[in-house]
Amino acid sequence: MLDIAPMAEALAGVVMELQDCALPSLKNVISTTDVKEAFTDIDFAILVGAMPRRQGMERKDLLKANAKIFVEQGQALEKYAKKTVKVLVVGNPANTNCLIALTCAPSIPKTNFTCLTRLDQNRAQSQIASRLGVSNDCVSNMIIWGNHSSTQFPDAAHASAVVGGCTANAVEAVKDDAWLNGDFISTVQKRGGAVIAARKLSSAMSAAKAICDHVRDWYFGTKGDKWTSMGIYSNGSHYSLPENIVYSVPVRIAPGGEYTVVDGLKITDFARSKMDATAQELLEERNAAWDFLPTS
Ligand code: LMR
Repeated sequence: MLDIAPMAEALAGVVMELQDCALPSLKNVISTTDVKEAFTDIDFAILVGAMPRRQGMERKDLLKANAKIFVEQGQALEKYAKKTVKVLVVGNPANTNCLIALTCAPSIPKTNFTCLTRLDQNRAQSQIASRLGVSNDCVSNMIIWGNHSSTQFPDAAHASAVVGGCTANAVEAVKDDAWLNGDFISTVQKRGGAVIAARKLSSAMSAAKAICDHVRDWYFGTKGDKWTSMGIYSNGSHYSLPENIVYSVPVRIAPGGEYTVVDGLKITDFARSKMDATAQELLEERNAAWDFLPTS
């Protein structure tokens, strides 16, 4: 665990909490304020350190403050981490911070960088499950397209739900297109802001759970026909999305971590317009962020 020097004492408290969890798979914890010690030979990097969003702020407002952090972390990955390192960016604006980090680590494959949209996927899954009166594990294959922001597109069109022992398409099970195309989408899009408004702090427990879900699936793989959503580097070859942004798409993951984008899903005009709107925001974020990057 790495933090800045003024946070060293707080970090010591986190170490104590980790020890006190008596986690069966935890052998040792290293906490440090030294970038070299933190990044040397690591297999996984979970980049959570960023200035958090306060009430009334959009993630874009964080770009300038956080671009510098992700330049430094990308450079540290390039210098010290294994070339096989897998990187999950959580700090907001997560997609663009992820793009900055991978740009600053050119010798590590771009496919090794992802950003967290599993929290949005979990939020969408929970909304559908609660609407249907079923448990969360009865809903699967939810998709989050695009940015981890209020332009993201939570898409239930390809999701499945088990209701009364029968598996159905989630849209057919819900039977309420007005809700699915309206309040469902806006609730998921604005959930991060709603949590901040209520707690006066950003989401913590649900974000930590989503990080565990993301890393577990990336390490062990997704099961059978199931997929999950994560922000990945767009090389321009899926769903006509722009190149050189980090965009959330559905992926299937093989054990060991190689992921494949779930291609060929039917995209309606409604979905297309939502997918394009969130891509447009990412292009704008990228253009704004590039003003803050070092020139060499
Ligand atoms: C969330 O979605 O809860 C977090 O990303 C916090 C935020 O800034 O919205």
